[in-house]
Amino acid sequence: FNREAFQNDLIYWYNERKRDLPWRENQDPYRIWVSEIMLQQTQVDTVIPYFEQFMNRYPTVYDLAEANQQEVLKSWEGLGYYSRARNLHEAVREVVESYDGKVPGDKKELKKLKGIGSYTQGAILSIAFDQPEPAVDGNVMRVMSRVLQIEEDIAKPKTKKLFEDVVANVMSEEDPSSFNQGLMELGALICKPKNPQCQICPVQKHCAAFGQGIQAELPIKTKA
Ligand code: ADE
Repeated sequence: FNREAFQNDLIYWYNERKRDLPWRENQDPYRIWVSEIMLQQTQVDTVIPYFEQFMNRYPTVYDLAEANQQEVLKSWEGLGYYSRARNLHEAVREVVESYDGKVPGDKKELKKLKGIGSYTQGAILSIAFDQPEPAVDGNVMRVMSRVLQIEEDIAKPKTKKLFEDVVANVMSEEDPSSFNQGLMELGALICKPKNPQCQICPVQKHCAAFGQGIQAELPIKTKA
């Protein structure tokens, strides 16, 4: 496995083929944060109009911090998992109170904020702050389980830490944002759960599962 060649092939493909999504317009950490919270349990196509409306209504942390909870929950209506909205609202108020309205670009500080787990933390640090931190969700575990033929059960909570270590070791220090978003984009467009499009995959030559013809057997996931 050639790490640099993998990074280059992934990042080149991402920059050629990435979807034009509204949260990719700039690197505002608040924007990235909102998008990643919405995207955690909701599909991209569903998120887009909600995201645009939310950012129009609450363009900055100050606008969201000042809003009342009922109004924020109303903007979230239809997205579901409303604790996401309550936590985001509370955390944004904390950013205004304790961080002078600036989303912290620091792992330890981010982790203190309500609703920010290791995935969101890595996504914000890499996409908004260009820091080489892994952002591992189910899609990234699927992609990396195939590329490196990792046969751990992704349903086990411990496995996510393993993948975070793996991604931390494989990732680009030069362009962590394109690297992480490239993995997400590959999972969404090519390396799908069913019928992955290996024939057109930009990292086919790096993929251990493709080499063995076992891409359909990975990832291993015990419970449904
Ligand atoms: N899913 C999670 N984060 C995403 C992002 N930044 N772009 C596209 N899909 C995503």
